[in-house]
Amino acid sequence: MRSNSLIELDRAHLVHPVASYRGHEAQGVRVLASAKGATVTDAQGHQLIDGFAGLWCVNAGYGHETIVEAAARQMRELPYATAYFSLGSEPAIRLAAELAERAPGDLNHVYFTLGGSDAVDSTIRFIRYYWIAKGEPQRDQFISIEQGYHGSSTVGAGLTALPNFHAGFGIPFDWQHKIPSPYPYRNPVGEDPQAIIAASLAALKDKIETVGADRVAAFYAEPIQGSGGVIVPPKGWMKAMRDLCKQYGVLFIADEVITGFGRTGPLFACSEDDIVPDFMTTAKGLTSGYVPMGAVFMADHVYQVIADGAGASAVGHGYTYSAHPVSAAVGLEVLKLYEGGLLDNGVRAGARLMAGLEGLRSHPLVGDVRGRGMLAAIELVTDKAAKTPLPAEAAPARRVFDRAWANGLVIRAFANGVIGYAPPLCCTDDEIDAIIERTKKTLDETLEDPDVRRVVKG
Ligand SMILES: Cc1ncc(COP(=O)(O)O)c(C=O)c1O
Repeated sequence: MRSNSLIELDRAHLVHPVASYRGHEAQGVRVLASAKGATVTDAQGHQLIDGFAGLWCVNAGYGHETIVEAAARQMRELPYATAYFSLGSEPAIRLAAELAERAPGDLNHVYFTLGGSDAVDSTIRFIRYYWIAKGEPQRDQFISIEQGYHGSSTVGAGLTALPNFHAGFGIPFDWQHKIPSPYPYRNPVGEDPQAIIAASLAALKDKIETVGADRVAAFYAEPIQGSGGVIVPPKGWMKAMRDLCKQYGVLFIADEVITGFGRTGPLFACSEDDIVPDFMTTAKGLTSGYVPMGAVFMADHVYQVIADGAGASAVGHGYTYSAHPVSAAVGLEVLKLYEGGLLDNGVRAGARLMAGLEGLRSHPLVGDVRGRGMLAAIELVTDKAAKTPLPAEAAPARRVFDRAWANGLVIRAFANGVIGYAPPLCCTDDEIDAIIERTKKTLDETLEDPDVRRVVKG
């Protein structure tokens, strides 16, 4: 009764992110009621393993009392403090310092946001300011990667390269350029890592020279393209792209909103990729989704140019909730949990997850298995040799998501038949094994659908 009325209220009033409004009205909301560890429970009492950590963000897992206590303590003491007017609060200052200490290289300056989209948006503003301060105002062109995701702000959504985020919104802007994704499974040069790296380097070089080497301000890359379908570039790809940007004097932004905070193993994927970007954007795992917060990391040289450029004037970029003390208190506690064992557990669980998914490679529907740490995907096809995606008429995303849900598993089902995994780092062996078993059951059931059976080869 209670949940039925919630469904009606939701249908009438709550506008959902990235949804077909009509499709959602017809289907109705699924209400989540509670969660503990890696398990979520819906309003009907159905328990599921959250194989996607909410929206790849609850890296620590649900129900940590110490996080709740840290937030409550901070709310009692000082629920809000602005960082305007040279004011501050202890947790925000401490969190900035702790993060700077752990960030790669000289990413020593941290600007706090409310999430990932405004972190990306902030970098665009900082980058324009930087080049103007440096006396190169003509550097106003930005390059990103097809199938990349950099959030949903008015300008950030134009760096994002997913059709839904552009169609009907009048973006991308003419200063936002794209190069092809490295996408190893579907790269026209094949799956050889060196050939993929060479192709991406050639594409970026060509784009920079076409746009004008003195016009390009910055290049954006995710260490793993998350929302584009968990696309894992070959080892050495990030470093090669970073080095090329350095040669051209183009700023390099590593968007670690998904990959940060243990998702791929270490605190930051950039460390493993052996690069120091000029900016690094993070969010999600920063507070493990318990409260909103994002962070822009800025390299020393960028900070100094902006600071000197502004001199005694204010750099006019700010948010009421930048450096929010409650979010910062949560961030500090979450960091303690990561370093107190969760990162290590994530590495162990990630290896088990990858091994389990590899075991599904022989399934007739599985064309590709890929991932790093606790970030993984399988790509469904109907013909392994031709890599034919499931037909759009089969609505693979809806079908696979609903079926996995019924089987007690939350996954991310992408429209093109990619299934994404980003479980909490706290997963036990049994929970990882259950993710694999429930995936297999979901795939077996899907294979039995007459319309799928008809088109599957082999
Ligand atoms: C790489 C990347 N950048 C930016 C964002 C935007 O973050 P948010 O949804 O917190 O605004 C996301 C969100 O998934 C992301 O994956």
